[in-house]
Amino acid sequence: MFVSHTREVANIALAIRTEHLTKIYDVGWGRQNVGIDNLTLEVEEGQIFGLVGPNGSGKTTTLKLLLGLIFPTSGNAEVLGMSLDSAAYKSRIGYLPEGPYFYEHLNAPELLRMYGSLFGLRGPDFEKRIQELLELVDMWDRREYRVANYSRGMRQRVGVAQALINEPDLLFFDEPTAGLDPIGAKHIREVILELRERGKTVFLCSHLLKEMEPICDNIAILERGKLITRGSVDELLAGDVTQYRVEARDLDDEIIEQLGDGVAEIIRLDDSCRILFDSREDAFEAATRLEDAGAYLMTVGPDRRTLEEVFIDAVGEEPKDASSVQGS
Ligand SMILES: Nc1ncnc2c1ncn2[C@@H]1O[C@H](COP(=O)(O)OP(=O)(O)OP(=O)(O)O)[C@@H](O)[C@H]1O
Ligand SMILES: [Mg+2]
Repeated sequence: MFVSHTREVANIALAIRTEHLTKIYDVGWGRQNVGIDNLTLEVEEGQIFGLVGPNGSGKTTTLKLLLGLIFPTSGNAEVLGMSLDSAAYKSRIGYLPEGPYFYEHLNAPELLRMYGSLFGLRGPDFEKRIQELLELVDMWDRREYRVANYSRGMRQRVGVAQALINEPDLLFFDEPTAGLDPIGAKHIREVILELRERGKTVFLCSHLLKEMEPICDNIAILERGKLITRGSVDELLAGDVTQYRVEARDLDDEIIEQLGDGVAEIIRLDDSCRILFDSREDAFEAATRLEDAGAYLMTVGPDRRTLEEVFIDAVGEEPKDASSVQGS
């Protein structure tokens, strides 16, 4: 079925493969919405893979296709080596939907018992697993709270525990940090990293490029249903680094002026200043001088791009939904 791809990925185990996957929604009166258009990608086992893009770019559509919740208009996909119409892979995956909904009157252990029963799980070993999962998501101490009284962060945490109930090999998380405060979002990211440590593959959808950057191994960027670029985060962000950056706070114009000819560009940010240099030596020398003059150094090193810059380069314009892509 996927003959052309086996060559490229000879010795790498793939958790997901899609080939020309397309979903067109019929919305009546002869009108159609493009969900995802001709998507071909591979996700290696044991990785954190990020599918990113602005609102309406096709992330949830892709995820629902891979979960077998909706059916492709054309194209193929394999999950854990099985085709989408196979029931067998469903017991080996976990899913955290966008804004999960749970029965309001249950507490966390009751809720996990209910989901466990769908997989035929019960007994003392399962009770131990419930405790482990609730500890992992930092909800064990709050296990008596009812869902009705949960904060958004608590819902997401319990949602992650629910997705892990059947010890899946592959996890699908749709906007796992949406609506969380920075500490709540950080905790969910730590849990995701912990899952990779445990050998799981995590497929993440998010429009928050800044949040995906530090945790994903590989990323695919979607825009209006189309794949616009993909690759390892390191490759995408490194691009072709030709400059070095020094970023610092608490520095006045006079100090910057004294840095001399080596300075290629000065970019003033909200509460800091980024100074670009063509040579590595100039950058490090300037960093020392700035620090000696009392500035607070934030970064010194290659001028890596941000995912947002990669996005803008690839699409040739600001993301349509720029505010959300910037991580608001
Ligand atoms: N059930 C549906 N019926 C018709 N059109 C749909 C349906 N679901 C999604 N679409 C359309 O498909 C496109 C992709 O939507 P999708 O929900 O996959 O985007 P997304 O990237 O997950 O967006 P968000 O960041 O807002 O969650 C959009 O144009 C959307 O309007
Ligand atoms: Mg979505």
